[in-house]
Amino acid sequence: TEQELSAVFEQTIAADQRIEPRDWMPEAYRRTLIRQIAQHAHSEIIGMQPEGNWILRAPSLRRKAILLAKVQDEAGHGMYLYAAAETLGVDRAELTEKLIANKQKYSSIFNYPTLSYADVGVIGWLVDGAAICNQVPLCRCSYGPYARAMIRICKEESFHQRQGYELLLAMVNGTEAQREMVQESTNRFWWPSLMMFGPPDGDSPNTRQSMAWRIKRHTNDELRQRFVDMTVPQSEALGVTLPDPDLRWNEERGHYDFGEPDWDEFKAVISGSGPCNAQRLAHRRRAHENGAWVREAARAYAEKQTAKRTG
Ligand code: ACO
Repeated sequence: TEQELSAVFEQTIAADQRIEPRDWMPEAYRRTLIRQIAQHAHSEIIGMQPEGNWILRAPSLRRKAILLAKVQDEAGHGMYLYAAAETLGVDRAELTEKLIANKQKYSSIFNYPTLSYADVGVIGWLVDGAAICNQVPLCRCSYGPYARAMIRICKEESFHQRQGYELLLAMVNGTEAQREMVQESTNRFWWPSLMMFGPPDGDSPNTRQSMAWRIKRHTNDELRQRFVDMTVPQSEALGVTLPDPDLRWNEERGHYDFGEPDWDEFKAVISGSGPCNAQRLAHRRRAHENGAWVREAARAYAEKQTAKRTG
């Protein structure tokens, strides 16, 4: 009976074991996972655009090769994640349709422009740094296929973060103009990076249930704090100032205190009116339409192969 199945599901979660695609699961658990994994996949795919903007203008062959490889990794992450979502009974084509029809979200961070080459380094340092903080706990997510996808993604994400930091180290040891570029980029990306963790816990409708199901392992505010604590020493090593006058070590708490991100800006960005939302979606839609002939050819080829086998 449904009651027995539900009891098995609850026991599996309580024992910290994994739910696999063929196991019974509550519909709301399935829906939550589809929502989060699809958003995550879309973020990887849309996330190729801000950095892709610099591939043709990277300052050396070495930097260009690094950036190309990194952007390709993001496409790969999107693919693992769409595959993980498909184990829940949706298909990738349907998810892509929803993304380009503006019916599913992707991370707010990718709606900000990349105005200077320093942004490539700062995205690696701050954006990939925040992504790792958020995603390492997802390696222990209760849903097996998502948890397993996250293990590989996190390894590559750590490499991306190092890549960004190394680029910034080169720039801060360069000319005064390069140091200024790094500072200016940090000023633009700091607050949006903090927003990646989602709304404050009091305004996060999904956290409580997702924690009970062990999809999420920490709240949005816990991870944001962890990120700040991890990043301040790195900013000091780089000689970059984080643009927050309220940022200071709190001896009693054993953590850094920090200011409040502009949550009105966050709401505007996730509801579609951030600086680049329209551009990002239009570009994704165009790429999808331009790829129609490839999908068509793949389908025709598959049909021919099936006909050969069965005929
Ligand atoms: N950007 C866009 N939307 C966001 C963001 C954000 N930074 N933060 C929260 N939201 C959305 C949520 O998706 C939710 O919307 P929905 O109910 O319409 O789906 C709403 O705001 C309320 O937020 P929460 O209740 O806190 O939602 P949730 O429990 O899903 O937590 C979080 C949000 C932390 C982003 C979670 O979904 C998560 O960990 N996702 C996986 C990681 C991920 O997607 N990373 C992508 C960026 S990193 C990268 O790709 C390099």
